Amino acid sequence: MAERPYTILSCGISLDGYLDAGTQERLVLSNEADLRRVDAVRAESDAILVGAATVRHDNPRLLVRNAHLRAQRRRQGLPESPMKVTVTESGCLDQGNSFFTTGTSEKLVYCASRSAACVRDRLAGVATVVDAGQPVDLADVVGDLEGRGVRRLMVEGGGRIHTQFLTQGLADELHLVVAPFFVGDARAHRFVNAGAFPWNPSHRAHLAETRQIGDVVLLRYALSPRFAEVS
Ligand SMILES: NC(=O)c1ccc[n+]([C@@H]2O[C@H](COP(=O)([O-])OP(=O)(O)OC[C@H]3O[C@@H](n4cnc5c(N)ncnc54)[C@H](OP(=O)(O)O)[C@@H]3O)[C@@H](O)[C@H]2O)c1
Repeated sequence: MAERPYTILSCGISLDGYLDAGTQERLVLSNEADLRRVDAVRAESDAILVGAATVRHDNPRLLVRNAHLRAQRRRQGLPESPMKVTVTESGCLDQGNSFFTTGTSEKLVYCASRSAACVRDRLAGVATVVDAGQPVDLADVVGDLEGRGVRRLMVEGGGRIHTQFLTQGLADELHLVVAPFFVGDARAHRFVNAGAFPWNPSHRAHLAETRQIGDVVLLRYALSPRFAEVS
């Protein structure tokens, strides 16, 4: 397998395993203390990747929020926030999304060949658009990121993206935060979709840590032997 960055999947879910509310509203699952923890993980990363549906639905900025953490990165000769990365087949991305309008770090869009030329025109000046083939294979995407100097990658969803990282064996750690409420709406997206996951009843994942953070709980799973090397 090609070299790839050390990869952490990070995600918040409801008690019934949903990522969102299934509505246009962005669902807040985390609390302030947990957002500070997520901010610290971001600050240690070279790049943050989200799916195009998350860019459209949540309109996230994906920046390091804490001024001390930003200053620390500057002292290390790094941009204040990690590179931002997204993946799209349709190419439906808007220059006005916070993903593109906030922060000074590089923005990369891995786009299926069929829409790459059009997306390159639409996002000219705000992002680097990479023709990632047809269909886009996330193993190639992470291999390309490694080639661009990304050694530590944080993946912040959504479900389609998490599913591919997990089923393709491209993740080293999973940080799953469980919020203390139910969504109870089948229109909502689950943490992952159906797929052949390497972890199943006869091959259980290694639970490396549990941590209560106010009213949420962090479950930290080691998904590859690389976890032991970096911990
Ligand atoms: N709770 C949390 O921690 C958390 C975190 C993030 C997101 N979310 C929620 O998750 C929901 C979105 O999840 P989702 O599963 O619908 O979407 P997603 O994983 O964010 O993005 C899926 C989209 O990414 C693109 N994509 C993914 N894999 C691709 C591939 N191999 N090749 C080409 N394009 C690819 C496609 O974009 P195109 O459609 O443009 O082709 C696809 O529709 C949102 O409602 C958001 O609120 C929750």
